[in-house]
Amino acid sequence: MMQETRLHPKDLVYPLFVMEGEQIRNPVASMPGVFQYSVDRLPEILEQVKTAGIGGIMLFGIPACKDPLGSEAYAEHGITQRAVRFIKEKYPEIYIIVDVCLCEYTSHGHCGMVCGEEILNDETLPLLAKMAVSLVEAGADMVAPSDMMDGRVEAIRQALDQSGFAQTPIMAYSAKFASAYYGPFRDAAHSAPGFGDRKSYQMDPANGKEALREIAADIEEGADIVMVKPALAYLDVLKEASLQIDIPFAVYNVSGEYAMVKAAAANGWIDERRIVMENLTAMKRAGAKIIITYHALDGARWCRE
Ligand code: PBG
Ligand code: ZN
Repeated sequence: MMQETRLHPKDLVYPLFVMEGEQIRNPVASMPGVFQYSVDRLPEILEQVKTAGIGGIMLFGIPACKDPLGSEAYAEHGITQRAVRFIKEKYPEIYIIVDVCLCEYTSHGHCGMVCGEEILNDETLPLLAKMAVSLVEAGADMVAPSDMMDGRVEAIRQALDQSGFAQTPIMAYSAKFASAYYGPFRDAAHSAPGFGDRKSYQMDPANGKEALREIAADIEEGADIVMVKPALAYLDVLKEASLQIDIPFAVYNVSGEYAMVKAAAANGWIDERRIVMENLTAMKRAGAKIIITYHALDGARWCRE
């Protein structure tokens, strides 16, 4: 009765990887319990999502073909567009958030267009806007730009409004740090950069105040929800920002954080259930309204038991 923070299944969002092909359910080696699915095999995981009663899913597409402009990201019959249509038709009750970024679709693996070794910010914006519109047309309920290009929230907001989707919310990855914790995700999403790193667009882990400025800028541009990512090493940023700014906050409990817990648990070194619930509760206590986590299905079950 006196507990200040209580986790609820609806707080949790489950990331899902969907790939081209048939009859595919590939385990991701560095993320035990996480799989890449072809569209036809999605129902087995969507049934679990439905039963878990969580807030929604966050969809990541892995196309068969990549090119420098990430064309499959905004193709009408791209892998993510097809997955969204399939889920909306078969499971209309599941809330679909789509990650908007080019890195899974570009041959160079960067989140924006490149020229030589330089990432082109402004030239990337129309492509991101196009991607967002095409996914919402397919049926996505919310878009979540994760590319960290400056000005993308405004570009996406304008494009959605002009296409008749003024009601579709934007969850901005606003304070996304250039983190080694994304390593396992890049295996899962085939999105490791082919050269260089993401430090020209993602944030320096040393900078907490800059995170507040990035969050403020995204809100100014029209973000409805703002995100801090990764979670555990950045709870101070989340806490400070959520005390200062009155807007719903999301936090992304990323792949590397998940991998560490799973590895230690597999060795019998920690109690997985207690660690996961402690971590997720800490994220909520620090100010997160929405927690995106690969533990979502287990977490939801453990909330109820
Ligand atoms: C793509 C993207 C990344 C994640 C979410 N969207 C990786 C990256 O920026 O390299 C990370 C998620 C995770 O590690 O679980 N921009
Ligand atoms: Zn990206």
